[in-house]
Amino acid sequence: MMQAALKNIRVPDLALMKERGERIVMLTAYDATMARLLDRAGIDLLLVGDSLGNVILGLDTTIPVTLEAMIHHTRAVTCGAHRALVIADMPFMTYQVSTQQALQNATRLFQEGGAAAVKLEGGRPMAGTVRKLTTAGLPVMGHVGLTPQHVHRLGGMRRQARDDKTAQELILDAIALEDAGAFAIVLEAIPDAVAQAVTDRLKIPTIGIGAGPHCDGQVLVSYDVLGLFEGFAPPFAKQYAQLGQQILAAASRYAEDVRQVVFPPSDLSTRNGFDKHAMLKSMSS
Ligand code: KIV
Repeated sequence: MMQAALKNIRVPDLALMKERGERIVMLTAYDATMARLLDRAGIDLLLVGDSLGNVILGLDTTIPVTLEAMIHHTRAVTCGAHRALVIADMPFMTYQVSTQQALQNATRLFQEGGAAAVKLEGGRPMAGTVRKLTTAGLPVMGHVGLTPQHVHRLGGMRRQARDDKTAQELILDAIALEDAGAFAIVLEAIPDAVAQAVTDRLKIPTIGIGAGPHCDGQVLVSYDVLGLFEGFAPPFAKQYAQLGQQILAAASRYAEDVRQVVFPPSDLSTRNGFDKHAMLKSMSS
């Protein structure tokens, strides 16, 4: 159902939604047309994820995604979104070098991309950076658990926090991000019970992806949800449509029509009142 009449989402609304027990709905978006549709569908948060490296650029990991690409796509999404809050991912190595670097690069996502918030990956080592950005007025969403920018250190896209020790580490990471001023945290690919413990412990909302039903909200990659992406899709990514199949069928029908000279229909010019013979005659006189 379309939710066009709902009020615009702002950063402070998310804490209120958690307090009221209202689930937060987030999807990724990478361009204005899709952002407009997802916004009209009532999606609360649009994440310009660095997953664009996978689904838009066809790369194996998010590591090569540049700040320029993120600004470019964030600009497009903010043009299409009206009600939803637009959050831009900070790409790999654009915030880890120093807080100064993080501040400068995040500022570009706000000023040039039009983002209302940024997301960055990592727990306690990132707390100082999160504090610096938030005190400068740049809202930050955290991201812990499976952090795809750390794919090489993690040894692949593996579920995280699977034993007591790593679960406790993750809870400490989440607490440090909240204390540093993050307004929400993505929990990716962790056991349901760990996500529930974090969600119960924090005042700020948790947004789960492959982290079970107890988070305050859920996020998925829109290309997975819509059945557009033919590469690897994680098992938790439910498909709500098979748009890839529809695009294949539509493009094949178009190709067939052009090759069979069925499209465009031959009588269009006469229907528009255009008289080819009269024109050619007037040109030759
Ligand atoms: O880049 C992305 O799409 C993400 C989400 C999967 C949370 O970080």
